[in-house]
Amino acid sequence: MRFIYLEETPSTNDAARELAESGEGGPLWVCAERQSRGRGRHGRQWTSETGNLYASGLFPLPKNPLAGAQLGFAAALSISETLRTYIPDADIRLKWPNDVLIGGAKVSGILLETGSFKGRNWVVVGIGLNLTSHPEDTTYPATHLVAHIKKKNLSGPEPLYTGPEAVLALLASHFEHWRLRLVAEGFAPLRKAWRKQAHGLGETAQIVLGDRRLKARILGLGENGELQIKHDDGTLESIYAGDVYPHFQNSLGA
Ligand code: BTN
Repeated sequence: MRFIYLEETPSTNDAARELAESGEGGPLWVCAERQSRGRGRHGRQWTSETGNLYASGLFPLPKNPLAGAQLGFAAALSISETLRTYIPDADIRLKWPNDVLIGGAKVSGILLETGSFKGRNWVVVGIGLNLTSHPEDTTYPATHLVAHIKKKNLSGPEPLYTGPEAVLALLASHFEHWRLRLVAEGFAPLRKAWRKQAHGLGETAQIVLGDRRLKARILGLGENGELQIKHDDGTLESIYAGDVYPHFQNSLGA
């Protein structure tokens, strides 16, 4: 696997996109110590101070039109597996579509972007993983990895946690495992692994779909990565894009 390390860049997703638009096909990862214009989903800002992981993987995009979005699940699974190395006993969960939670608070987010260059499709998988700090003013509660690592594992002659580079090395290898399984076997194995760690299955949640806000029970993950929900009147619906919040939260979309 190839890695490009930058001190500072506006956004590693933009850096990866520029490489794709100059003919680079990947696989490779671009990682920056800090970003001056880190981006989240729905045009939100992603606070990008030194100490956390900001990385974007550039990969060829398989022909299947759903493959781009499904790589988001590969990323969430790899983040969760990476975190388990450091905090094996923690409550790590996956929240649809691609968030990773520790103890119910968001530790990581994923921003997928696709494009094509000279007939070749590419996908950028942008990962923000809070390692040493997290922003306080977020809609969804946030946390960071180091806060959950046992003190004895942070010091001594061979500390468990050594910084973002080692985290990315682990993450990239887990991601490659899931990406290749997606290519070889389709979405089914990812769906199975994701369901085992899913946050909020069977619970009532608020779902925000652009201007539409609704309250429904989360049933599960569909065959292609869509969220299956049940309305109060018993009707079923599949959701392909949106955000999920606990049903008691009232400051949605802030
Ligand atoms: C989210 O809104 O949850 C997704 C956040 C994605 C942030 C990462 S940080 C690395 C990459 N570069 C960006 O500008 N965004 C993604």
